[in-house]
Amino acid sequence: MVEGLALAAFGFMHQLTNEPLLKQLLRYVMSDEARHVAFGVLSLKEYYDGLGAAEIRERQEFAYEAAVQLRNRFMIQDVWERLGADPKQVVAYLEPNPSPFQETFQTMLFSKIVPNTKKLGLLDAGAADRA
Ligand SMILES: [Fe+2]
Repeated sequence: MVEGLALAAFGFMHQLTNEPLLKQLLRYVMSDEARHVAFGVLSLKEYYDGLGAAEIRERQEFAYEAAVQLRNRFMIQDVWERLGADPKQVVAYLEPNPSPFQETFQTMLFSKIVPNTKKLGLLDAGAADRA
C-alpha cells in the first residue's frame, strides 16, 4: 500500500512538472518505487500462499481499512476541523466534486493499489464463502 502510494505520488509530481532535470530524477525514483512494489507483491504472494483463510481474511480487512484511510486522507478532514469548518459538510461537498488534481492523484493511487491487491488474492478472498 505504502509503496503504491509512493509510486503514485512521484508519478503525480512527474506529471505536474515541466522541469527536465526534475522529470528525469522522478523517472529514476519511479523506477525504484516500481521495483519496491513488485518486490512486495512477489514476496507477499509467496507468503500468502501458505496462509489459511482466516489469516487471508485478516489481511483483506487490513488492506480494505488502509484503502479507506488513504481515500479519507484526500478529504483532509482534520484541516477543515482546525479551520473551524464542519468536516462532514465539507466532505459532503468535496466527494462528488473532486478537484482535477485530487481526481488524478486518487486515480493514480488506486490504479496501482487495486491490481496488486487483486494479485495477492485480497480483493476476492472469502467471495466463494459468501456465494
Ligand atoms: Fe519505496
